[in-house]
Amino acid sequence: MTAFGTRALLSELEATVEENLHRHLAAAENWMPHEYVPWSQGRDFAGLGGEPWSAGQSRLSPAARAALELNLLTEDNLPSYHRELGRTFGRNGTWGAWVNRWTAEEARHASCIRDYLMVTRGVDPEALEHARMATMQTGFDSGDKPLLNVCAYVSFQELATRISHRNTGHYSGDPVADRLLARIAMDENLHMVFYRNLVTAALEIAPGQTLRAITDEVADFVMPGSVIPGFGRKAVQIANAGIYDLRIHHDDVIMPLVRHWQIFEIAGLDAEGERARQDLVAALETLNARAARFAEQRAQAKTGHSPSQDQVRG
Ligand SMILES: [Fe+2]
Ligand SMILES: [Fe+2]
Repeated sequence: MTAFGTRALLSELEATVEENLHRHLAAAENWMPHEYVPWSQGRDFAGLGGEPWSAGQSRLSPAARAALELNLLTEDNLPSYHRELGRTFGRNGTWGAWVNRWTAEEARHASCIRDYLMVTRGVDPEALEHARMATMQTGFDSGDKPLLNVCAYVSFQELATRISHRNTGHYSGDPVADRLLARIAMDENLHMVFYRNLVTAALEIAPGQTLRAITDEVADFVMPGSVIPGFGRKAVQIANAGIYDLRIHHDDVIMPLVRHWQIFEIAGLDAEGERARQDLVAALETLNARAARFAEQRAQAKTGHSPSQDQVRG
């Protein structure tokens, strides 16, 4: 297999980026984050002579709170993701225009989730601020992933984020949170479509190489929020609540993209491409088995057995 280098791929995929940037700009709504925050519920904290935060003020359940915290802190780490995409896609031309547009859209997400949580006193603002500082100082480092791996990873990650926001909104029991997170999830969906279309184009240009990237990203998938303090514990809480677990990761994130890319219908793969496809089958089987095991353990935990820790990667 002749592997395409980054420069060749950037050039081969440029027309697809341009086309999808236009499609995205036509489809994206210029929504106003301040319209989604219940400002009338807000009041001063202790520093301005008001009441300090206490857990009893939050109407959110512990699992809903954990999910909103993880979603927000994940969004907060945007400067790191911007750096990663800028490094891979570059600053120039249509690739650079996409990175900047995407970043501008993502920046809304953290700001309005934070506003919502502050005015509703949904989470401990001090703990949240300490966690934000720690998360951003750790940053997110994909380990210099090659271009096709970045495209595959962000396709899965945007879809994962969409599902996670959507399910958190439903679970929260608060129609205001549900509306806000549904709005954010629509953005994440458009982001996913952009990257998904890039991978589709890459599969035509370099099928074996792209398939290898997809396989590696399925096998090694780690949520971008994994650097957040207490991520493992919170991820288990969220999984136990059914907001995001390995079953959802397999059924609603990985499989829809694998099907969309028609990976099992690609004909004429070379030996390396075929090996990548076989490895993907094995990775999907492993993920499916882990999902089944987690569901079993969760069911057992409800009857008194210990809960699983096998959730931190999905
Ligand atoms: Fe986002
Ligand atoms: Fe996004």
